[in-house]
Amino acid sequence: MIALIVAKAKNNVIGKDNQLIWHLPEDLKHFKALTTGHIIIMGRKTLESLPCKLPNREHWVVTRQEGYVPPYEGVRIFHSPEEALDAAQQVDDTVYCIGGAELYGAMLPMADRLYVTELEDSFDGDAVFPVIDETVFKKTAEEKRQPTADHGGFAFVTYDRIRR
Ligand SMILES: NC(=O)c1ccc[n+]([C@@H]2O[C@H](COP(=O)([O-])OP(=O)(O)OC[C@H]3O[C@@H](n4cnc5c(N)ncnc54)[C@H](OP(=O)(O)O)[C@@H]3O)[C@@H](O)[C@H]2O)c1
Repeated sequence: MIALIVAKAKNNVIGKDNQLIWHLPEDLKHFKALTTGHIIIMGRKTLESLPCKLPNREHWVVTRQEGYVPPYEGVRIFHSPEEALDAAQQVDDTVYCIGGAELYGAMLPMADRLYVTELEDSFDGDAVFPVIDETVFKKTAEEKRQPTADHGGFAFVTYDRIRR
């Protein structure tokens, strides 16, 4: 299965200046619980935005640059999303695309499932998740979280593909 995992604001913003905008510890735990033990595929800019390699996950990066040298050892390099997905699906039952905006756009047409953390607030940013076509992806689960003093409300939403 090809899964996309993303946290997006109400206005679909996912990042600004190559960084995440909000700090939601519960979402980071959710991300860790789902992706640990799996291959995570990401765009070169998202790889370079990580503070370090994420433990117990294989990092695969997509770049157009020949001879790209990643900032961390052990990162596998691919030159198209299709090439990365073909190789990943041969060795992992669930492969996660973890962003960013350009990679999500390229992989959404191939995704089977979307794990979307939907924030109730809008944010200013420069990286945006594509609009989810609900005639293609059906919402199959939703777990809401109330706002607190630290953050606004959000929900863990799962979408499954209903047509190609
Ligand atoms: N909220 C979230 O859940 C979330 C998750 C991840 C990232 N983000 C945010 O998203 C932003 C980064 O997104 P982004 O769109 O700027 O960058 P990105 O998708 O992470 O990386 C873009 C780069 O990936 C490579 N690439 C993309 N499509 C390709 C293709 N079809 N074939 C080959 N290489 C390809 C290119 O690398 P080269 O330039 O090296 O050729 C391109 O410049 C940041 O703000 C980050 O914090 C948010």
